[in-house]
Amino acid sequence: MENIQEIKAVSMPRIGEKAPAFKAVTTQGEINFPQQYSGNWVILFSHPADFTPVCTSEFMTFASMEDQFAKYNCKLVGLSVDGLYSHIAWLRTIKEKIEYKGMKNVEVTFPLIEDITMEVATKYGMIQPGESSTKAVRAVFVIDPKGIIRTIIYYPLSLGRNFDELLRVVIALQTADEFSIATPADWRPGDDVIVPPAGSCGTAKDRMEGKEDMKCYDWFFCTKPISKEAVMEKILKK
Ligand code: BEZ
Repeated sequence: MENIQEIKAVSMPRIGEKAPAFKAVTTQGEINFPQQYSGNWVILFSHPADFTPVCTSEFMTFASMEDQFAKYNCKLVGLSVDGLYSHIAWLRTIKEKIEYKGMKNVEVTFPLIEDITMEVATKYGMIQPGESSTKAVRAVFVIDPKGIIRTIIYYPLSLGRNFDELLRVVIALQTADEFSIATPADWRPGDDVIVPPAGSCGTAKDRMEGKEDMKCYDWFFCTKPISKEAVMEKILKK
């Protein structure tokens, strides 16, 4: 029995699985996750603690980029194991007092979940006792409009996230879905993409015979161009 509990305690959602469901209180009222985000991409992310410097820099950056994520139909939801009043006081302090890297008067309008029981954080594997048993690590779950987890990234307490990378992840996942391609290392819109996606049948060369814009480095590694405009036309929220 003890063993089963131990296994349960460390169970973590995985890529390709349904995002675990929960209801919670947030700075924007109650949420029913992921159900109420059906039809949207959503980034669910955790931070270790309110009123800490790395988290403050992250929240200011995320809030400043909220419109950029919204352009790709992507909403943001934060979580820490602090209570609602701490969240409210911290976000007010950020808005009223903190000026950082040209960002000031930053209002966080996306929901920040209170999780004092650590129920949600535990469900999502955000508590990693080797790092801290009382705080969530910096977890990022990118969830698609069907509620499927598409990317998971974890950072330790000391390392602030790269938010350009998180936006790149959302754009790359949406591009892969729309064009049935894969994206190579460091891909950005406008760069060549990989055909066919990793793991699909047949070689790219067989399937793309006669398509002149394809470039093959070997039988298993072929790319084709897709312009930035074509990517944006498909994925930008109308
Ligand atoms: C921070 O956000 O600065 C932080 C939070 C918890 C532990 C270490 C750093």
